[in-house]
Amino acid sequence: MLTIWVHPLGLAAVTRVLSGIQPSGELNLGTYLGALRRFSQGSGDDDSYFCIVDLHAVTVPQEPAQLRARTLSTAALYLASGLDPETATIFVQSHVPEHTELGWLMECTASFGELSRMTQFKEKSDGREFVSAALFTYPALMAADILLYNADRVPVGDDQKQHLELARDLAIRFNSRYGAVFTVPEPDIPRTAARVMDLQEPTRKMSKSVESPQGTVLMLDPPADIERKFKRAVTDAESEVRFDPSAKPGVSNLLSILGAATGHDPASLAGTYSQYGPLKADTAAAVIALLGPIQERYAALMADPGHLTDILAKGASRAREVAAPTLERARTAVGLLPR
Ligand code: AMP
Ligand code: TRP
Repeated sequence: MLTIWVHPLGLAAVTRVLSGIQPSGELNLGTYLGALRRFSQGSGDDDSYFCIVDLHAVTVPQEPAQLRARTLSTAALYLASGLDPETATIFVQSHVPEHTELGWLMECTASFGELSRMTQFKEKSDGREFVSAALFTYPALMAADILLYNADRVPVGDDQKQHLELARDLAIRFNSRYGAVFTVPEPDIPRTAARVMDLQEPTRKMSKSVESPQGTVLMLDPPADIERKFKRAVTDAESEVRFDPSAKPGVSNLLSILGAATGHDPASLAGTYSQYGPLKADTAAAVIALLGPIQERYAALMADPGHLTDILAKGASRAREVAAPTLERARTAVGLLPR
């Protein structure tokens, strides 16, 4: 489907898509089903930009060598998951300095009050001895990531909804203060698996920042580990298989994962099971079938890091061709003297 949209400057173009993932840990099944898998599922006519948001990762302490390695391995996972560097622009956020510069203008557009209401900031800062200023202003940088490319559609998991809402508010506020510079982006949140839950604590999101190795399925987990994690997944004391996320979070999470992996509706899948054991086994098998080919392509890609860095270098220069003129328009609109 070719979606025509009209740029605020009056230019007609295809749908612009942008998203990003932090290289702050090993990618898990939640990130894959909620976001990464959908990066390569757009229409063939989309103009897509996918970045590895390393500047977001450093809002909390990262071990430098590990950050470098994870940035490259996240790029390999983007490609292994089906992104084609010929048609999508794949790059590292910090390679495109326009992000930080527009990030500053977004910090000047966001209010202290609205940043204080971000639930992710509250969660991530809670209990930390050192909370960086950047962890607080992070949503302004995320807005810059999106607005620099005049993205129409932003595929993300459910937990990014509030940040997307802020990006929309900042675009609207900036445009009304200074004239039409930015496209107001739309979040694209999946119907199934928008929030994959931890297998051990199914009321908590599966997350790379939480220490729950048995509850988190990693994209690169060997099949035996995936099987074991699903086998031990926490369910409940009943035995009825029913899709009811508030009353039966563990079972519903399994049904959501199975549904997302097989393309079926979780509620109708429930009717085909009468016991938890087979549901767990089928979910594990579906996830293994989904991740197996990705793991194979990942291994091949990681064997040639030079190829990956070439792709990222080309991606960064293509991204800058779009980002630089947008930044220039924003600078001019605000009244910064041309350099
Ligand atoms: P992050 O790994 O925090 O950089 O998140 C990258 C993307 O994955 C974002 O779009 C998140 O919304 C999405 N995501 C992360 N964890 C999950 C999860 N447990 N379920 C669904 N989506 C997720
Ligand atoms: N904040 C997002 C997360 O933690 C990552 C992110 C940064 C992002 N910039 C973005 C996602 C731009 C979509 C678009 O998951």
